[in-house]
Amino acid sequence: MDTSEIRQLVENITVNNLENQDVEVINNTSLLMLGKGRQGAVFHYTDDVCVKVFGNEEDCTREYEALSMGQHTGLFPKVYDHGPLFIVMETIKGIDLREYLQSQPLTEELSAKLIEMLVTFKEIGYERIDHHKRQIYLQADGSLRVIDVARTIWRDRVYPYPRKLLTSLGETHKETFLSHVKAFSPELLEEWSYYMRMEELAKEIYSLLLEGGNKKDIVKDISGRLLTTDEKDNASNLVNLMHKVFKEEWVKTMLARGENPDEVMQKIDEHWAALEQKQQQKQQPVVEESDTRREKIDFTDIQRIINGFNNPDKKDKKDKKDKKDKKDKNSKKSKIDKKKFEKATPAEKNKMLRQELTSMLMQKIIDNGKKGKK
Ligand SMILES: Nc1ncnc2c1ncn2[C@@H]1O[C@H](COP(=O)(O)OP(=O)(O)OP(=O)(O)O)[C@@H](O)[C@H]1O
Ligand SMILES: [Mg+2]
Repeated sequence: MDTSEIRQLVENITVNNLENQDVEVINNTSLLMLGKGRQGAVFHYTDDVCVKVFGNEEDCTREYEALSMGQHTGLFPKVYDHGPLFIVMETIKGIDLREYLQSQPLTEELSAKLIEMLVTFKEIGYERIDHHKRQIYLQADGSLRVIDVARTIWRDRVYPYPRKLLTSLGETHKETFLSHVKAFSPELLEEWSYYMRMEELAKEIYSLLLEGGNKKDIVKDISGRLLTTDEKDNASNLVNLMHKVFKEEWVKTMLARGENPDEVMQKIDEHWAALEQKQQQKQQPVVEESDTRREKIDFTDIQRIINGFNNPDKKDKKDKKDKKDKKDKNSKKSKIDKKKFEKATPAEKNKMLRQELTSMLMQKIIDNGKKGKK
């Protein structure tokens, strides 16, 4: 396809990113705008071809990359050309699901198509297997097409279930969709339900801790309830999920307190990344010396966290010297835990990991709570 004309036209369109709102567009061409969002504006070129002009190169590269990864599936617009700030692509027709579901029921057939779509996302290798209903278009032949894929890649943390899709469906359609999922694949529903429960729990932990109260009791109560769910171990998914929930809840709190959410989010990420890195470094020799399977959690850290809960005042007062003493003391304790862990059955190991993850989450909340108050 010859795109020289469209390339020239694009030079006369400027798109500027704005904070928390759709882009600003300065269009000195006769091209009509089909729509815009936070990342770019899309213009009609012919009935079959449109061009998306971006406010920054990173978003453009990311969307181009994501579209390229999925070209073979036919789910996304065909890409004809691209530059640093634009992508020439196929115009997607049909009706988007936000509009469609306003007047039409969510049939089993449509749910099946949505599940197929999620499977395709996974097969392509997208990190976020999730999409808002307004970005999904139903075609005359009943198939689905999807636009706006930049956010599916280059993500380090994602919800391990299609949260955005489910939320965007709204309560009634969500119920219907989940009942269809159950009919197609009970295992899939079980997995999603597990993460949804974890998310609820993480939110609860957050609000409980924000209110204050006796932390020891909270730990006991929440850990006990976490342990009642006994499913496959997805330790890292769980850590990510909790991190996400925590971050979102924390940002909400900070916003309500009039803080800058971007700064807060960055701090949370840095904090979490440092903790993970520390764990990875500490964990390596452990894995080498015992050829048992992956032990993701560092027990010294966990023990310290638990001690911190039980003796919050002591922990606050510690100076560098104390820190060292405590560390030695704790490493002794952690060895006992490690032994316990090695002897444990897989189900018990699973439970222990869960318990520790909960503790870690709560530590984050408390640490950041302290930071926030300063
Ligand atoms: N390939 C396409 N075919 C037809 N219409 C499109 C196409 N791509 C985008 N649009 C229209 O342009 C609008 C904005 O596009 P898009 O959602 O990709 O922008 P965005 O800035 O990336 O959005 P977001 O803020 O959600 O990331 C869409 O809602 C849709 O109406
Ligand atoms: Mg987008």
